[in-house]
Amino acid sequence: MRENWSSGRLTRRGVFSAAGLAGASVALPLHALAQSAKPDPAISEVQDWQRQLGDGVDKRAYGTPSKFEAHVVRRNVAWLTAAPESAANFTPLHALDGIITPSGLCFERHHSGIAEIDPAKHRLMINGLVDKPLVFTMDDLRRMPRTSRICFLECAANTGMEWRGAQLNGCQFTHGMIHNVMYTGVPLKLLLDEAGLKPNAKWLMLEGGDASGMNRSLPTEKALSDVLLAFAMNGEALRPEQGYPLRAVIPGWEGNLWVKWLRRIEVGDKPWAAREETARYTDLLADGRARQYTFVMDAKSVVTNPSPQAPLKYRGRNLLSGFAWSGRGAVKRVDVSLDGGRNWKTARLEAPVLDKSMTRFHLDFDWNGEELMVQSRAIDSTGYVQPDKQELRRIRGVNSVYHNNGIQSWLVRGNGEVENVELG
Ligand code: MTE
Ligand code: CO
Repeated sequence: MRENWSSGRLTRRGVFSAAGLAGASVALPLHALAQSAKPDPAISEVQDWQRQLGDGVDKRAYGTPSKFEAHVVRRNVAWLTAAPESAANFTPLHALDGIITPSGLCFERHHSGIAEIDPAKHRLMINGLVDKPLVFTMDDLRRMPRTSRICFLECAANTGMEWRGAQLNGCQFTHGMIHNVMYTGVPLKLLLDEAGLKPNAKWLMLEGGDASGMNRSLPTEKALSDVLLAFAMNGEALRPEQGYPLRAVIPGWEGNLWVKWLRRIEVGDKPWAAREETARYTDLLADGRARQYTFVMDAKSVVTNPSPQAPLKYRGRNLLSGFAWSGRGAVKRVDVSLDGGRNWKTARLEAPVLDKSMTRFHLDFDWNGEELMVQSRAIDSTGYVQPDKQELRRIRGVNSVYHNNGIQSWLVRGNGEVENVELG
């Protein structure tokens, strides 16, 4: 029996069969450990790592995670795309803590693979409707005033495979095209002020220096408010995957606009109607019309634990955990249901709760082996409430790929396994 929290009390037997030491340290007096019939070898036996010297400081010039965490990696879904150079992989959301995504686990989305750019040969040009066209080296940018900010980047296609029903079994795959990083860089406004915008300057075109030369149109209003040109993430230079040496950071707006390997900004008076805003990143509605330039990412949330890759292992005390975010502001509240939306409880938000950043939520619950239908619903500082999938489909139809922020449902079975399902 794995019951370790019978009628709300921890039994001595349960500690060793299921809860393990971590559980024991929470609630048990020490003498309960000493009285156990069988000694725990994790305590009573000397371990290998206690017998020998560990690596010296000369062995790991750049640190990597413990070998016991080797399963915590980005993963891709091979059948989704024709080639790994024009593809995406996914952040292991179920294996993270706090709100910062470690740089090596940030999902990647490339149209032409990872460009490896020599920063000494990288330039940023600003041209078009400006008084003074400018070219900056990376050293020029690093001598300008800089700011740091934590914010999420969500690909508009995140959860895009789920429009017609539950498909991928894991929050890594259904929701993992998002990461949350502290960026450091130069406010774009400073550069545009230096170049001097002409009175008819209304739109910018951001262009990447990778082989795809990916480009997107950005309204000057947003560019002048909170856009950063970042050269650093999480305290060090951008990773090549994330656009080294320079990327656009467009808080709250769809990831496709966050041009990586940024080499040029052209100023114009109308949007460019680039490939990524005509053939892609539009939302086909049921009546045949398509929404275009849908920049803002609406409020969304997902329970990461439990989820298909993070089943329930213990009965009794459990901690539900997840992420919520909104491109329109801060997360104000997250509701969690364990019974498919019949009853909702308010989750605990873990500090810090930041504007346009992923926010961590928790809910304590007891589990006695009953089936659960787990859902979460985010409410942001504008009062917007995350819709359920039926509600979303009534307005959007099922032809969309992008901007799926519907409520996710996980079915927890009696054996603790979790499945991606949809309530009909
Ligand atoms: N910028 C360039 N130059 N090339 C690209 O392929 N992909 C875009 C955007 N910027 C892309 C790009 C897309 S669709 C997304 S979702 C984000 O970058 C992904 O950023 P990430 O790889 O840091 O997760
Ligand atoms: Co994208």
